[in-house]
Amino acid sequence: MRIYKTKRGLRKALDTQPKELVVGFVPTMGALHQGHLSLVLAAKDKADIVVVSIFVNPTQFDRQEDLDHYPSTLETDIALLKDAGCDFVFVPAVSEMYADTVKSHPFDFGGLQNVMEGAHRKGHFDGVGTIVKGLFEIVRPDLAFFGEKDFQQLQIIKKMVMQNKFPVKIIGIPIYREPDGLAMSSRNTRLTPEYRQAAPFIYKTLKQAKELFGTKNAVEVSEWVVQVFKKHPLLKLEYFTIADETSLQPIQKQKSTQKYRAFIAVFAGDIRLIDNIALY
Ligand code: PAJ
Repeated sequence: MRIYKTKRGLRKALDTQPKELVVGFVPTMGALHQGHLSLVLAAKDKADIVVVSIFVNPTQFDRQEDLDHYPSTLETDIALLKDAGCDFVFVPAVSEMYADTVKSHPFDFGGLQNVMEGAHRKGHFDGVGTIVKGLFEIVRPDLAFFGEKDFQQLQIIKKMVMQNKFPVKIIGIPIYREPDGLAMSSRNTRLTPEYRQAAPFIYKTLKQAKELFGTKNAVEVSEWVVQVFKKHPLLKLEYFTIADETSLQPIQKQKSTQKYRAFIAVFAGDIRLIDNIALY
């Protein structure tokens, strides 16, 4: 496994590879866990060369506190990637990815950016779009792997690829969970034991909401979720939305031909956790 800090170094290394080999790419912000590794394993399975980037992208953070405390475990990450069979790791400094100003470009992903995470985290998807576009231009992957954990991000990246006509196939990977149901996240390590113990309530509620959606409408299900979080002593609901899986627009009139998903964001103290579940 080879590690590169510069765009030029990585590009040069990739240019020496035989052209017919399929390049699979997994962008990450590090502090790797099994969820990330499931993406790397999928890449190993489908591609000949696996490239993983580790870059905590400052422009996608809407809260300075979240960026300042974002976990970093580079040595462990590199050991995990080596074990997983990754070929190239790209670990650029901020100055390598943002030359003069650490700023994102404005994007319009056909409205996908205006709901849920986009509505609650100002500028978040401009930051994601800017960095992923930049990384795609360096790596030029044939396949790129994104987790359904960040389902809105996955749909936005698919949109960006279509808008820019990038010759890359985006592959979505199911959410990897802890045995108690909590969706794995780099931020989970920042939960105090008390909040960590409380956090599986999020997925438990999503599963119950899915069951309720069989007999109740979206408004009733949403009201029920708001109520159960109101009663919870530790967790604070930011939003719960039932939306069309493709357009991500909140459900209006339920149609049997559409696929819906429930999306949730919750504060466990200072730590913001997100999750989602398919309702079909
Ligand atoms: P990060 O949060 O590090 O996640 C990197 C990738 O791993 C994303 O595609 C994310 O959806 C996926 N992932 C995280 N937890 C997962 C889980 N429990 N199960 C399955 N997949 C999971 O997402 C980002 O970084 C950044 O926004 C990035 C795309 C790297 C751009 O900066």
